[in-house]
Amino acid sequence: VDATDDGRLVTLEDRFARFAVESAPTSPVYARFSTWLGEDAAPAAALALAPPGQVRPTLWFAGLHAALLRDPTDSLAAWYPSCGGSRDPTDPDLRAALLAAVERHGQWLEEVCATRATQTNEVGRTVALRLGLAAVRAAGVEAVSLVEVGPSAGLLLRVDRYAHVYGAGPAVGPSRGPAAPDVTVTCEVRGDATPAPADPLPVIADRVGLDAEPGDPADPEVALWLRACLWPEHAVRRARLDEALAAAAADPAPVVVGDAATDDLEALLDARPADLPVVVWHSSALAYLARPVRAGFADRLAAAAGARGTDVWQVSLEGDFLAPWDAAHTDVPPEPDGWIAHVLGLARYRPDGRREARLLARVEPHGRWVRWLDLPA
Ligand SMILES: C[S@@+](CC[C@H](N)C(=O)[O-])C[C@H]1O[C@@H](n2cnc3c(N)ncnc32)[C@H](O)[C@@H]1O
Repeated sequence: VDATDDGRLVTLEDRFARFAVESAPTSPVYARFSTWLGEDAAPAAALALAPPGQVRPTLWFAGLHAALLRDPTDSLAAWYPSCGGSRDPTDPDLRAALLAAVERHGQWLEEVCATRATQTNEVGRTVALRLGLAAVRAAGVEAVSLVEVGPSAGLLLRVDRYAHVYGAGPAVGPSRGPAAPDVTVTCEVRGDATPAPADPLPVIADRVGLDAEPGDPADPEVALWLRACLWPEHAVRRARLDEALAAAAADPAPVVVGDAATDDLEALLDARPADLPVVVWHSSALAYLARPVRAGFADRLAAAAGARGTDVWQVSLEGDFLAPWDAAHTDVPPEPDGWIAHVLGLARYRPDGRREARLLARVEPHGRWVRWLDLPA
């Protein structure tokens, strides 16, 4: 039992019951497990060992998934499509198989919950990064330094090696290297507005990430954990991750270890080639910074533009409560299916202190769809 922000006590059962609803649309296996654990969470007691803020069913599920990916002959793996399984999740044998697997992997689950955090590196989010970079190019910028805050294994920093397909449009990219893309990412286009052209991109003449705990894409343990944090039925995401990891293992993007809440960020921005405008990109990363740090983030980018004497651009894909340009867009109607979308924002900080910002699009958190808005922020 632990307390939420509003002081209510939340049990493991509460968490799994909520996750049963959240996972139901795309993970019948996790939804079924979560329904049972929502009634009695004793089999998932290891999750109580997680530090505050990490007590999430997704952490426990990732631990179990990692055990099965490591040993796909485990009997529970027969229900996990990611492990080659194809048994029906409504099968009455599933409950006993789950309990037996939890027993077998008990010690591992305790270790995972006590020491790890879920980790993602979602290549699908490059549908948003590409639109942001193309908007920078459309403003006349031909070459940039790309700096990613919270890049994980750096897979998104290799955006110019990927091709993207928006709705019924043609594939665009890659803009660097061989014509065959390392990964092709497709997304749906919602609504009537056609996104602004996603091509060309500026040349990414310099690129670097800043992450508190980066992962080497060539390290099999890093790859295993990234795969384990995907849900077992998410085949498209899994295939994309595997392709992107294989390509990045041979040609990784540089990532520096550091804390974006400190002047590690300023040092990195300062060290970019002198004349290049900088694009600072972040997705699902600002949420990890403390509230006051988030609130001061835009001012730090503006100060960096002044210090460098070049424009600093910001391409941001975060939950809308985190967008640095505030709640000015809260009048955008909610998605018809109630999806909590992320927002893609573009800001420009000029050396003389002027700032402009636009809200470009709403984007499904893993890049499944884009709704183009292009509103002043
Ligand atoms: C949810 S992952 C998102 C990864 C990637 N941006 C993506 O969209 O797939 C968040 C990343 O932010 C990093 N992170 C968290 N706090 C950080 C900080 N204070 N400074 C730098 N990186 C941080 C984590 O290590 C992790 O790699």
